[in-house]
Amino acid sequence: MLKPLLFVSAVVVFGITASSAIAPRPQDAAQAPAAKKDAGKAGDKAQARAKEIYAVDCAICHGENGNGKTDLAKDMGLTLSDFTDAKTFAAKSDQDLFKLIRDGKDKMPAEGIGRAKDDELKNLVIYLRSLSKQTADDAAKPSN
Ligand code: HEC
Repeated sequence: MLKPLLFVSAVVVFGITASSAIAPRPQDAAQAPAAKKDAGKAGDKAQARAKEIYAVDCAICHGENGNGKTDLAKDMGLTLSDFTDAKTFAAKSDQDLFKLIRDGKDKMPAEGIGRAKDDELKNLVIYLRSLSKQTADDAAKPSN
């Protein structure tokens, strides 16, 4: 009865020793690339948040894809520019867009600080500029 128990504990002790010998020390786990990856992840997260804000606060007028062809725009008699066209924002700086979105213009409602903080609004501008690229990417994809 004792023998199998001894064998088991020997295996356990050996297993622990062996695995700690093989396991890489945490600081060996290549810190520089990991930090880079985290920065990328933070960017992805900020863009995911921008997409969320756009979907909730902007898409109702400007459309999920940004082309501005929405029922609400039609009902309100709005002619909205096409965000899926790279030319739309070509002549505008990020600051121009930031200010326009923050302050609103005519029938375009202001996006207050309570709805998007400054850094969120900056990311929203990046997201808006990416809409023309996303559409181009979609168009390049095979349709099946
Ligand atoms: C109630 C409908 C409505 C909503 C909601 C809305 N917009 Fe607008 N948006 C407009 C209208 C109308 C204009 C045109 C304003 C003008 O130039 O007179 C406009 C213009 C713009 C422009 C300028 C386009 C250009 O050609 O330069 C940008 C950028 C923009 N909106 C972004 C946004 C963003 C981002 C949101 C969400 C935070 C948003 N809009 C929410 C109606 C809306």
